[in-house]
Amino acid sequence: MCGIIGITSTRPVAAKLAQGVRRLEYRGYDSVGVATLADNGIELRKGVGKVDQVDAELDFASAPGITGIAHCRWGTHGGITQANAHPHVAPGGRIAIVHNGIIENFLELKEQLLAEGAQFLSETDTEVVVHLIERALKVADSLEEAVHVATAQIVGSYALGVVCLDEPDKLIATRNESPLVVGFGEDEHLIASDVAALLEHTKTVVYLDNREVAVLTPGSCSIFDPHGEKIDKPRHEIDWDVEAAEKAGYEHYMLKEIFEQPAKITDTIRPRLRDHEVVFEPDTGITADILRGVDRVVFLACGTSWHAAMVGEFLFEELAKVPAEVEYASEFRYRNTPIPPGTLLVAISQSGETADTNAALEEAVRRGNRTLAICNVRGSSMTRIAAHTIHTHAGPEIGVASTKAFTTQLAALYLLTIGMAQAKGSLSQQQIDTMIMGLREIPQKMERVLDQAGEIQNIAKQMTSRSNAIYLGRGAHFPIALEGALKLKEISYIHAEGYPAAEMKHGPIALIDKQMPVIVIAPQDKLTYQKTLGNIEEVKAREGTVIAIATEGDEVIPRLADFTIFVPETLYSLGPLMSVLPLQLLSYHVAELRGCDVDKPRNLSKVVTVE
Ligand code: F6R
Repeated sequence: MCGIIGITSTRPVAAKLAQGVRRLEYRGYDSVGVATLADNGIELRKGVGKVDQVDAELDFASAPGITGIAHCRWGTHGGITQANAHPHVAPGGRIAIVHNGIIENFLELKEQLLAEGAQFLSETDTEVVVHLIERALKVADSLEEAVHVATAQIVGSYALGVVCLDEPDKLIATRNESPLVVGFGEDEHLIASDVAALLEHTKTVVYLDNREVAVLTPGSCSIFDPHGEKIDKPRHEIDWDVEAAEKAGYEHYMLKEIFEQPAKITDTIRPRLRDHEVVFEPDTGITADILRGVDRVVFLACGTSWHAAMVGEFLFEELAKVPAEVEYASEFRYRNTPIPPGTLLVAISQSGETADTNAALEEAVRRGNRTLAICNVRGSSMTRIAAHTIHTHAGPEIGVASTKAFTTQLAALYLLTIGMAQAKGSLSQQQIDTMIMGLREIPQKMERVLDQAGEIQNIAKQMTSRSNAIYLGRGAHFPIALEGALKLKEISYIHAEGYPAAEMKHGPIALIDKQMPVIVIAPQDKLTYQKTLGNIEEVKAREGTVIAIATEGDEVIPRLADFTIFVPETLYSLGPLMSVLPLQLLSYHVAELRGCDVDKPRNLSKVVTVE
């Protein structure tokens, strides 16, 4: 939710701020602004709309100054207006701030400030912070002291970048529950909500922890703990490159990310797969002893990552023979679910910054449970909360709709399942070898599905004018039906629902008529294939349009369905890695044909750092 960037440099910063905020745009894109410290005051340029639109009007890059901050907003408090856009400048005109997060006690603080005669220009929670800092600065010795005094009064989450004309080369950064990294550039220091915005300038970063304060000038970086004591923090080198955060000739990030999946699966499995076993890196701390001691798994996640967790549940129960369940992180947190000893809590997240998931994970840590994160972003809050982390190697995912992060999460879950089955002896060596071989073949089989993008685009034309869609799948493919429906609704705004195929008869079948496309995942497995054929017949009998995902070589389904997309045969448990690809491509093409902004769907933000 919202992206922030700040720079203190020996050179003008406005062009870099504009570029940085463009890279962060997937976090929020309802309004955008830049503030720089110029000789004659704070230069503030902000407006409603996407970065390109507002930039075309206000020309961010020409703002003068060597210190500045910028922000792209996903509104929480207050409408989408220029006044509510960040940065916010204090009434005296000397301090500017950008904020990501939610100030929970802002109404109370606002009332106090109003009683003291303060005037507010916006409806945001952020504006109280700029008032508090200005008030504190009247008696404080430095900007950092004023920020410290102001943030001590705040309840809620924040990542803040603060600049002041009185100390024109200083940038203050602090955070609580919202992410913020400090980057070390050449004769400059930077701050950003995530590393994607920094890659062009540096790969060396420090991750701030809650209530720490960074005081930055072009030549110095001092970090203070919540008590004001100066501390040394480890620097981290980021292994992503700038190209990874660019479109590489694709029309949209989402399409690029869909096509990257074979390579990203390889990157995720290769370091951990041996001929006859799975081995996790020593820094994960995951050992056979730990896995052997697990007798129950509870997954915590949101959205697409929650769908990955549902596949995980299937894998753990089916293969590792460990009971598993999946919780919405936002629900788990507020329920007293009994968690017996021996339970492993597995949190899954692309960003590692989803507030609901991290809060649930923290709750699990507080209760003394063993925790493991499956996460794409190194150094993210989640990886610092969980006892163990398996990193997925999806690289930066910029498209708001998650694709490669999802399939690399599935790959990590397969690895964990094999590791667990190995440790517990729940699969024979031959079964483990078969799974390892099957996993190794996945990237090349994925390529075969992606080769059909042209045909899938043609099928997408059938769906562009529909208002609803139903997705059906069974077993390991039921979560994929949910994921297919989520992808369609979030980027093309067509209402879609996923169901276990057999559930259709218990209600949704009433919706089927000529206008209803039904996407059926129908792999040729021994257990349910025939039943799924029956479901297709039921849809056809009611004149629905069937788009089937079938196994290569299947001659029956093309005779029943209106359209068939073939995926290569795999082990049944690996099937979700195949069946999700056509559904991602289908949603992408439907959205693109409907003229939707695929990478920046309305009302969404890539990183949900508020509960
Ligand atoms: C959908 C999507 C969201 C995220 C969800 C959790 O395409 O991207 O549903 O999956 O917001 O985000 P992470 O995985 O970052 O915790």
